Amino acid sequence: MRSLEIADELDFPKNLCVLGIETSCDETAVALLKDGVIVGEKVMFQNDLHADFGGVVPELASRQHARTISDAISQTIEQSNTKEPEQVLDAIAVTYGPGLAGSLMVGVSAAKALSVAWDVPLVGVDHMEGHLFAGTLFRSIKLPSLTLLVSGGHSQLIDVQAPGVYKYLGGTLDDAAGEAFDKVARLLGLRFPGGPEIERLSHSGDASKITFPRGLKGNSLDMSFSGLKTSVLRYLEKNPEARAEDVAAAFQEAAVGSLVDKVALALKKTRYRSVVIGGGVAANSLLRAKVVTLCNKAGVEAVIPPKNLCTDNGAMIAAAGAYRFISGFVSPLDLSINPSLNLV
Ligand code: KG4
Ligand code: ZN
Repeated sequence: MRSLEIADELDFPKNLCVLGIETSCDETAVALLKDGVIVGEKVMFQNDLHADFGGVVPELASRQHARTISDAISQTIEQSNTKEPEQVLDAIAVTYGPGLAGSLMVGVSAAKALSVAWDVPLVGVDHMEGHLFAGTLFRSIKLPSLTLLVSGGHSQLIDVQAPGVYKYLGGTLDDAAGEAFDKVARLLGLRFPGGPEIERLSHSGDASKITFPRGLKGNSLDMSFSGLKTSVLRYLEKNPEARAEDVAAAFQEAAVGSLVDKVALALKKTRYRSVVIGGGVAANSLLRAKVVTLCNKAGVEAVIPPKNLCTDNGAMIAAAGAYRFISGFVSPLDLSINPSLNLV
């Protein structure tokens, strides 16, 4: 993507009407953005469908998207009171990767069908770029910015100089942060998705009772979560009577602590004007609080989007799509999904 000539802030492009469609994993999410405001949105969750399996079952996820996508789109448009979408839409943005192939296919097919029927340009969006731009729906972002993207499939630190001008600073060498939350939740017999469950349980736990390792130390911005997960497993084997609340709180402290340590290290290495967090794990209250404290100390602006903009949603895809569209990017109608798409 060509970079925009925006001086020093990332602001949502006004005067655009964009429909965003997101089906990369287990949420069927659609939103309509008009002049930078979310005028309609629908997120259909599949948590109950996957709960018994302890994780997302790809085949079930794609079938459910196929059932719900048209309702999600029509309810979004209805909510926005848009009578003739084809007259007002500038673009239809859709996630084409990374994610589950069957799930991505449902969203991309729906977006293509609407693009043809309404004669509105199609804009393929990287899911992680969506998480990165979610913050722009909340406030303008001072550049250069350090972005921590933490979801069920990714954990990365990205240097953002301008839209489309990204540098990968470091990321997980094994499990993603969200994956670690989900796996540890499973060890504790909690429901999927595990992140919110661990957070809920941690409120009545004492994190100081157990010390779990904080992943990779040293000067690298890479992270690791599989050792932490294994430590929790070993601890539970040795201490079957341990309070689940304390284990959850201690795990959360270690997982969040290791993320915040890496943000602190990145701020020491390079001067940034803001820190943005995005992705489902960015909905975690402890992470949000610790990033704010760190940024206050470092004199850097913390951009902590509302929780519903951190977890998967259609608005973030519309926002990233809007940036792509105004920088001259339009996808062909034979756009392919790319389950292993890399942002940088
Ligand atoms: O970004 P997201 O909604 O979907 C993916 O792109 O993967 O992230 C989902 C991940 C799941 O692993 C979920 O357990 C985690 O985000 N998550 C949380 C919280 N809410 C969601 N992790 C920790 N604390 C939370 N409050
Ligand atoms: Zn996501």
